[in-house]
Amino acid sequence: MSAIDEVKQKTDIIEIISQQVTLTKAGRTFRGLCPFHSEKHPSFYVYPEQQSWHCFGCNNGGDVFSFIMKKQNMDFGEALKHLAQRVGVVIPSRFEPGVESEEKQKLYQINQAAALYFQGLLNSPAGKEAQGYLRERGFSAKTITDFQLGFSANSWEGLKKHLTDKGYTQSQLSAAGLIVEKEDGKSHDRFRNKLMFPISDSRGRIIGFGARVLDDSLPKYVNSPQTPVFDKSGSLYGINLAKDAIREQDLAVIVEGYMDVITAHQNGFSNVVASMGTSVTEKQVGTLKRMTKNITLALDADAAGEEAMLRGVGFENSLGAEVKVVILPEGKDPDDVIKQDAQAWPKLLDEALPVVDFTFDMVTSGLDLNTARGKSSARDKLLPIIDQIKDIVRKSHYLQKLGRLIEVGERNLEADLARIRARRTRFQAAKPEPEAAAQLNPLLSNPVEEYCLALLLQHPELKGSDEGLLPEYFENSENREIFIAWRQSAKIESLKEALDPATHEHLDALLAKKLGGTKIGPKYTECALRLRERYLRSLAKKIEAVLALEAESGGEADLAKLKEEWIGVTTQLGEVFAQQSRRRQRG
Ligand code: UTP
Ligand code: MN
Repeated sequence: MSAIDEVKQKTDIIEIISQQVTLTKAGRTFRGLCPFHSEKHPSFYVYPEQQSWHCFGCNNGGDVFSFIMKKQNMDFGEALKHLAQRVGVVIPSRFEPGVESEEKQKLYQINQAAALYFQGLLNSPAGKEAQGYLRERGFSAKTITDFQLGFSANSWEGLKKHLTDKGYTQSQLSAAGLIVEKEDGKSHDRFRNKLMFPISDSRGRIIGFGARVLDDSLPKYVNSPQTPVFDKSGSLYGINLAKDAIREQDLAVIVEGYMDVITAHQNGFSNVVASMGTSVTEKQVGTLKRMTKNITLALDADAAGEEAMLRGVGFENSLGAEVKVVILPEGKDPDDVIKQDAQAWPKLLDEALPVVDFTFDMVTSGLDLNTARGKSSARDKLLPIIDQIKDIVRKSHYLQKLGRLIEVGERNLEADLARIRARRTRFQAAKPEPEAAAQLNPLLSNPVEEYCLALLLQHPELKGSDEGLLPEYFENSENREIFIAWRQSAKIESLKEALDPATHEHLDALLAKKLGGTKIGPKYTECALRLRERYLRSLAKKIEAVLALEAESGGEADLAKLKEEWIGVTTQLGEVFAQQSRRRQRG
């Protein structure tokens, strides 16, 4: 049994969830108000027998890991460690996360102490000019407190002295990026005479700082360097204050700057976060994905969305949803727009376009589509982007849109697509070592899931054949994590990087699993259908349990809606059966 299975076995889902949600026993289930959406009547159920949970209001569900991940904003590795600690299971890891996390803890602590120091200075006579600046920019006292804004004095050693007096060492300060070490062994404060913006992670821990000059001098901003807890390109400014609003509104808006976020929040637009001046990354999208599937990028007119065009579809594929884009009025940033007229902001967001439509507009605006040249240029630029779209319905939608635009039949475009694809080099999966297979196979515990995953991992050509597999079809969280990473990664190597080291052993076992080399396509279709069948059956059972219960107690849950859902699930199940029997007849 893997450490992950052991954690799962020793953890009681009722105990874990009831720490966060008041649960009452209802038949063979437990019921409570859903912690992930607001509701007056409970539609959140926990099933002790299956060790799973499901909310019929917001249609979320999963096992104990997915509950912790969602509730605490943790990734799989963090949730695993959190639960493992409670039940005393040691997670083997090449990176010794215990040691690393102790170092990280220290860095969060130092940053917190530094933020307090900067806050104190802002409120002291030394902070008078900075206070004046903040007032000029229209920030309220509440905003200044909420964002923990501060000031770093015009001194070389103020912070260093304060923190070493508190017992932190010079090397710790340096690791946190708060001081700059010189070759001669001397060091000084990195941030001097600046307005300080603490940057937090989604759990509210301070990971780094942004700092702005108080005048027009350059550079305008200095940021913390890369540290074990701070990676600027992977962080989102304001996420700690925005996450609840992002969940509630089911939408996250990404802007560029610190000031934009602060002004947005002060005006009640709390679902806004900043990428801090650089183009949005997969990691940032990944953080938001735990809160919502809907992301709108608010872009500068002069950046003109090149980046969005290049990366937008990739983001959509990993989100499994559309990304929208809105272009700001020429020469203005969100801070300017909102200050001029707060109501202009929601109006602007209403006009956001799906990133692919936006790309169409961008590409075609410079072309004369009445000429053959304009038409083929539009095709050459747009087809590769359309080709990246994983969702087949959306892909075909945009293929049709392009066809109409350049007056070419969809069939012809599909032929073009095939040609583009053929040109692309195929990657070869790393060949597993046969000895490893024999050793590690006992780790495999959920045969259908693992057979299906092993097929996918060992046969990259299956990536193109969409069998509608969804992460929720995988009951085993480890398998689910690997499936999600597989969907997002082009290569086995990057897949491994994307996964928590605790799952590597399992991944290796899957890569080494012996499969036999024939009829790979049909084998995959069959096990994808079986996973879908199993998922639908279990969902139907969950709904039945609740229906039976509500009928008995005359409860106030929305029975009609539940019944409708049950009919939907059983209809889908019927379709799966039909497909399976057609396949059996054929061969
Ligand atoms: P801007 O130059 O647009 O700054 O950079 P801003 O946020 O509008 O600030 P104000 O309104 O002029 O005071 C946008 C973001 O890019 C990052 C910061 O996160 C900034 O908020 N940036 C910019 C840097 O990190 N370093 C720089 O030198 C400039
Ligand atoms: Mn600005």
